[in-house]
Amino acid sequence: VITVKTKTVSGKIAPAMWGVFFEDINMGADGGIYAELVKNRSFEFFKPLMGWTVNGAKVKEGDFLVLNRAPEHTANPRFLKATVRNAAQGDAGLLNEGFRGMGIKQGLRYDFSVMYRQQQPGVKLHVQLLNSNGKVIGDTILIPSQQNSEWHKQAVSFHASGTEPKAKMQLWLEGNGIIDLDMISLFPADTWKNRPGGMRADMIQMLADLKPGFIRFPGGCIVEGFDLSQRYQWKKTIGPVEERQLIINRWNFEFAHRPAPDYFQTFGLGFFEYFQLAEDIGAEPLPILNCGMACQFNSAELVPLDELQPYIQDALDLIEFANGDAATHWGKVRADMGHPAPFNLKLLGVGNENWGPQYIERLKLFTKAIKDKYPGIQLVNSAGTDPDGERFDYLNKELRNMQADIIDEHYYRSPQWFMQNARRYDNYPRRGSKVFAGEYAAQTDKIASPHNKNNWLAALSEAAFMTGLERNADVVTMASYAPLFAHADGWQWTPDLIWVDNLQSYGTPNYYVQQLFSLNKGTAIVPLRMNNDVIAGQDSLYASAALDGKTNELIIKLVNVSGKPKTYTVELEDAKPAKQAKLTVLQSDNVNGVNSLEQPKQVAPKTAEIIIPGKRFPLEAAPYSLSICRVRL
Ligand code: AHR
Repeated sequence: VITVKTKTVSGKIAPAMWGVFFEDINMGADGGIYAELVKNRSFEFFKPLMGWTVNGAKVKEGDFLVLNRAPEHTANPRFLKATVRNAAQGDAGLLNEGFRGMGIKQGLRYDFSVMYRQQQPGVKLHVQLLNSNGKVIGDTILIPSQQNSEWHKQAVSFHASGTEPKAKMQLWLEGNGIIDLDMISLFPADTWKNRPGGMRADMIQMLADLKPGFIRFPGGCIVEGFDLSQRYQWKKTIGPVEERQLIINRWNFEFAHRPAPDYFQTFGLGFFEYFQLAEDIGAEPLPILNCGMACQFNSAELVPLDELQPYIQDALDLIEFANGDAATHWGKVRADMGHPAPFNLKLLGVGNENWGPQYIERLKLFTKAIKDKYPGIQLVNSAGTDPDGERFDYLNKELRNMQADIIDEHYYRSPQWFMQNARRYDNYPRRGSKVFAGEYAAQTDKIASPHNKNNWLAALSEAAFMTGLERNADVVTMASYAPLFAHADGWQWTPDLIWVDNLQSYGTPNYYVQQLFSLNKGTAIVPLRMNNDVIAGQDSLYASAALDGKTNELIIKLVNVSGKPKTYTVELEDAKPAKQAKLTVLQSDNVNGVNSLEQPKQVAPKTAEIIIPGKRFPLEAAPYSLSICRVRL
């Protein structure tokens, strides 16, 4: 018998409890949610023509030169100078390979744009999309209309006549003359909210469908960088895209089986767009900033304490950028970018997976400066990557002594660890610092191994663990799976919540677990017991219960990690007899089962209305299942 006390609230569930963690890893941003199709559009990758091939029957050495005008243009120093002589189509051109190809859809409009400079007219640009057989599946012509010593931007749109996941873009230069080219860009028209230069709609829809309480960005290790020169600096990611200074991606190295030497952050997707995304999907924005320490996996580079002020100033300025009105410097920058209203930033992270006394001493300086100026901002502090080790114990103690608002714990562990740790937070102090389970995912093999699958066992173990998070929602106020996205042809890490290719995306079983907890989170925790004890593994069952004060429903979550069906009698204490309920079940008999691009819904939830005969009713937990029962009270 499982008893539920429907009138005894043991804690509130934070509205932002279940959120998402976004990082540009596995082609999450460039080649992922950022819908730009042209790779290395401004020739700034470390090999200037990465992604491009110069081609054509008459092209000669020196006809296409990449020039560097640093230091006057520090953000976008390079451009391409093309010289053409009586060229026809096919004589002189450039082919762009896209991000592992370009996903092109039949009938869809594509917007091509370019920045150019020419003293004399004479060169036309033919734009062609080629499918994998080299057939043209969309083309247009752009005739640069200005001639002087200035740079101009010009755009032209056309429709694709075919669908192709790995298309390439061919530019042929026709005519006679010299032209400078930069920011050569191609976007599909069907971006999220149809914003020009925007985000890939199917991927963002997957996020929106999670109804996340928060979105943490921009990472992860990319916040830190290989070294401090390559750390994420939010001020370089805002304003006109051609003035955003790209950097090498922290995940650009040979990792596991997917070398990605061409992985850069071009920042067409920057902090303004992240805030806008958060607003679009109803999530609290949670930016994380560098604390003056580089990624400790690579180096221990530190900013001396007496040189930390610019880093702290970045944090103060970010709050002004998000929340200040147009009379403030950074509030005006935001307003000028098209968002006069504040973004209502309430949460800010300082440091990602940094540890040791070096982290604590830097954090104290950040905390004082931020709290002095913005006492209402809740700070998220890192407790590292080692949930059971000495490093964690040290940080946890120090952070609690500092009365940290929210402590960010990360765990990438086995499915067994997740099941065994369903009681992790039962004995945490109920007062003081709150916990953010900021990055977690069950690992069925080594991190980044191709065998490390998002299988049903991993997802089920996360569901078991998450009942423990929910039961302790008075302590754990936020949680997010990580990483969020991975591209099938360009990943550095497994497992990941959502997988994509250039045209499609699908949710893993873990995605559906996240979604079911998020859509069924309720507003308050109520005690659910078996033999007077919380249910955290007895009889292979994990369970929690919540009330939804908005809909007046009781939400029971049961996770059966055994291969046997179990039927329990649920007894509602202090409740009127219930009549009807909605039962949603995520189940597979195959714990190794996965979803895939070909079979995206092998493991997906099914919902049915059920009749409940009063205050005592049977509830079945199918073998290897997560069941969510919403009882109308
Ligand atoms: O989620 C992938 C990486 O795991 C993140 O960048 C980092 O914070 C953690 O180590």
